[in-house]
Amino acid sequence: MIGKARLGTLLVALALVATAACSNTGSEKTVQVYSGRHYGEEETFKKFADETGINVEFLFGSDAELRERIEAEGENTQADVYMTVDAGNLFLAADEGIFRPLESQVLTDAIPESLRDPDNLWFGLGVRARTIVYNPDEVRPEELSTYEALADPEWKGRVCMRDSSNVYTQSLVASLIAHHGYGDAVNILKGWVANETEILGSDVLVLETIAKGGCDVGITNHYYLAQQLDEDPDFNVKAFWANQDDRGVHVNVSGAGVTKNADNADLAQQLLEWLATEGQDDFTNSNHEYPANPDVEPDEHVMREFGNEFKRDPLGSADYGSRNADAIRAMDEAGYE
Ligand SMILES: [Fe+2]
Repeated sequence: MIGKARLGTLLVALALVATAACSNTGSEKTVQVYSGRHYGEEETFKKFADETGINVEFLFGSDAELRERIEAEGENTQADVYMTVDAGNLFLAADEGIFRPLESQVLTDAIPESLRDPDNLWFGLGVRARTIVYNPDEVRPEELSTYEALADPEWKGRVCMRDSSNVYTQSLVASLIAHHGYGDAVNILKGWVANETEILGSDVLVLETIAKGGCDVGITNHYYLAQQLDEDPDFNVKAFWANQDDRGVHVNVSGAGVTKNADNADLAQQLLEWLATEGQDDFTNSNHEYPANPDVEPDEHVMREFGNEFKRDPLGSADYGSRNADAIRAMDEAGYE
C-alpha cells in the first residue's frame, strides 16, 4: 500500500509533468499514458498524434510509483496505458491486475511470442540486451565467455555490476534461475560475491568506472554504451555478447499494456498497435533499442556499434519476469547487495 503523504507528493509531482507534456492536435480524441520509461517518448507520441489525430497525454514517473498510482486510482484512473521498462515491471503490473487482455491480430503478428505476455496483457515494444562490457586495454575478448564465468577466480577484484534493487539485475538473475535452477543460481551469485564484485548504482556508473580503469569488466544494457558512444566515439569500453556458445545473451523488453479501467481502451490499443508497427523506428531509435518487431531494422548507430548478428536467449520475458521475487530472494541469500 502507498502511504497517504507519499501519494500526495507523488500526485503533485506527476501533475506538474502532465501539464508540460501534452501533444495537442486540436482533436477530441486523447489517450493517457503513464510511463516509467523515459527514453524520448515525447517525440514518438507527437508523431502518433500527427499521423492519427489522437492526442497523447503522458505522465512520467518511477515504474513502481506509477503502478501504485494506477492501483490507488482504481476505476477513476486517468491511465489508459501503462508503459515501462523490463519484463520484471511488466509482470508485476500484470500480477497486480492493472492490465486488460487485448485481442489484436496486429499486435500478435508484430510481436514475437517470447516478447509478450501469454495472456496478451502486455507487449514488448523495444528489446535491450544485457551483456558483458569490458575495457579493451585490460581484457581481450577471448578471455570472456559467459555471465557464469565472471564467478571464476581470475576475475577477482576486476568486476563491476549493478545493485540488487535494480530490476535489470533482478531479471538477469531470474534468467539464471530459469536456466540453472534456484540452488545453482545462488551458487553463481555467491561466486560473483566471492570475487569482490563492486556493486554500483547505475549502468552508466558501471561503464564510466570501467572506462576509467576502476574495473576491467561488467554487465550493462547495450544502449547505455550506445549513449556513451554518442557523446564520445572514443569511449574506451566495448561490448561482448555473453553466452554465445550456449543459450545466448539475456534480452529484455520495454513495453506496455492497456489498463483494466481505461476510459479510452480502443484508442490505447491503437497506440500500442502503431508503436509495434509504423512507430517501431521512432520508439526504439530514441533509446538505441532493438525493435521488438522482427520486420523492422535496428537504427544505423546500433547496427554500426553492435550489429544484429548475435544469439539471443530464447527464454520468454514473461518467464523470467514471473521469477522476480525468486531473484530478489536468491541475491539476498547469496549476499549480493
Ligand atoms: Fe534503462
